[in-house]
Amino acid sequence: MSHAHTRAAVTRSRPAATNGEGRTTNGHHRLEVNPLFSRAGESDVPRYRLPDDSMEPATAYQVVHDEVMLDGNARMNLATFVGTWMDDHADRLAAETADKNMIDKDEYPQTAAIEARCVRILADLWHSPDPESAVGVSTTGSSEAAMLAGLAFKRRWAAARHAAGKPAAKPNLIMSSAVQVVWEKFANYWDVEPRYVPVHGDVHHLTPEGMLSRVDENTIGVVAILGQTYTGIYEPVKELAQALDDLQARTGLDVPLHVDGASGAMVAPFLQPDLEWDFRLERVHSINASGHKYGLVYPGLGWALWRKPEHLPEDLVMHVSYLGGDMPTFGLNFSRSGAPVLLQYYLFLRLGREGYRRVHQTSQDVAVYLSGAIGAMDQFDLLTDGTDIPVFAWALAPGVEKWDLHDLSRTLRERGWQVPAYPMPADREDLTVMRVVVRNGFGLDLARLFLDDLERAVAWLDALDGPLPKETTGERAGFHH
Ligand SMILES: Cc1ncc(COP(=O)(O)O)c(C=O)c1O
Repeated sequence: MSHAHTRAAVTRSRPAATNGEGRTTNGHHRLEVNPLFSRAGESDVPRYRLPDDSMEPATAYQVVHDEVMLDGNARMNLATFVGTWMDDHADRLAAETADKNMIDKDEYPQTAAIEARCVRILADLWHSPDPESAVGVSTTGSSEAAMLAGLAFKRRWAAARHAAGKPAAKPNLIMSSAVQVVWEKFANYWDVEPRYVPVHGDVHHLTPEGMLSRVDENTIGVVAILGQTYTGIYEPVKELAQALDDLQARTGLDVPLHVDGASGAMVAPFLQPDLEWDFRLERVHSINASGHKYGLVYPGLGWALWRKPEHLPEDLVMHVSYLGGDMPTFGLNFSRSGAPVLLQYYLFLRLGREGYRRVHQTSQDVAVYLSGAIGAMDQFDLLTDGTDIPVFAWALAPGVEKWDLHDLSRTLRERGWQVPAYPMPADREDLTVMRVVVRNGFGLDLARLFLDDLERAVAWLDALDGPLPKETTGERAGFHH
C-alpha cells in the first residue's frame, strides 16, 4: 500500500516547520487586527495563547472569517467527495439545530425519532428484507460507520469461534489494496490482519479469485467498495457475494460481506437501480454510507446499517441511564450535533427519490462530458469515465515527458482549482492518476470553465523549454481523501 495518504494530520502544540503556519508567520506570535477594530484590547491579540481579556464578537468574527478565506474556495475543490453546498433552508435549519446533541435522545426525542426514520428510509432504499426492524445508526462519517461494521464482524466471528471451541486470536479482513484509509485504520486499531488483494494491470478492483485465495477460517469478513476513492468504480459486489456463497457450499466457511458505500450507496439506488449490490444479496451483512457525500449534507454525517438485528452483536451496544431512560448506544463518539441528521431528513423530504435522481444524473452528465473531453486530449489516457459514481480519473499518455500530473495539479491551482494527482495503490504504484469528483454545485457552466483552464494549463506546460524543477524535499501533493 502507498502510505503517503495515511499519515494523520495530527495537531501539535507548536506549528511544524513545514506547515503554512510555520512558514508564513514564523515568530509572529500576535494577530494583526483590521485597524477599524480599534477599541482597547482589540488591536493586540495573542495568536497562540488565550487572550487575557475579551473582545467584541464582531472583531473575533472578523479575525476567524478573514483567516479561513485562505482555505480555498470549496466549490472549486474537485478533490473532495464531501458536500460543499446546501440551500438557504438547509442553512437555516443548520443554524437552528446546531445545539441539539444527538446522544441526548431523551431530551431531544424528536431528533432521535427522525434519526430512526432516516435509518428506515435507508433500509428501504437498500432493499432490507424488513425495513421496519432495520438496525442502523448515524455516525460522524463513513469512517466511524466502517469501524462499527468491522467491529460487528470481529465480534460475531469471535463468538462463533468460541462456541466451536476454536481459537479467536488471529482475525483477518480481506479487501482490495484500493480501500480508503479507514480500513487500514480499522485493522491497525483493532488488531485485525489486513489482507490486501493488490490491484494489477487494468484490473483496479477486488476480484473473486483474489478474494478466495486469501480467505481462511480466521477471515472475519470481506469489504467490497461501491465507488472506489481512487477511481470512482464499483467493485463487483454480486460476483463477490456469489463466490462466497459457493465457498460456503463447498467448504462450510461462512464469510460475510460488508459494502463500503461511502459514495456509491447514495448514488446507485438512484442512477443504477437495477444493480444488485445491497441487502438484496443475502451475503451482504452491513453497509456504510456518508450522508455528507452523495447524501448531499454538509460534513459530519455517516450511516451504518445491518441486514438483520443478529448481525449486530448485542454485546456491542451500550446502555446508558444517566441521560434519563435506558438509552442504547453504539458508536465511537458520544456527544455530537444532531443538525446533520436533521439536514439529511430535510433533503429526503425536499428531494425525494426523483430529486436525488435528478441531482445525481446532472452530476453524472457533467462527469461524462468532462471525462469525454479530457479523454480526447492527446496528453491523457482516461482510466474511468464517471458512469459509476460521477467521479473519473485519468493518467498521462505515454510520450508526455516534460511535465507530469503533479505539475498540472499545481498549474490548475493557480486559477483556484483543486485537482489531486496521486499514485494508484499496490501493485500499481507505478501509475499516477488525476481525479475529478463532480458534486452538486459543479454544473456544466463551471465544468466548461474548468475545461478551458485545463486546456490552457496543458498548452502552457507543453510550451515549456524543458521540465519544471521538481520539489527536492517533502512529500508531493497527494491528497485524495
Ligand atoms: C470508499 C470510502 N470509504 C470511506 C471513506 C471515509 O469517509 P468519511 O470521510 O465519511 O469518513 C471514504 C472517503 O472518501 C471513501 O471514499
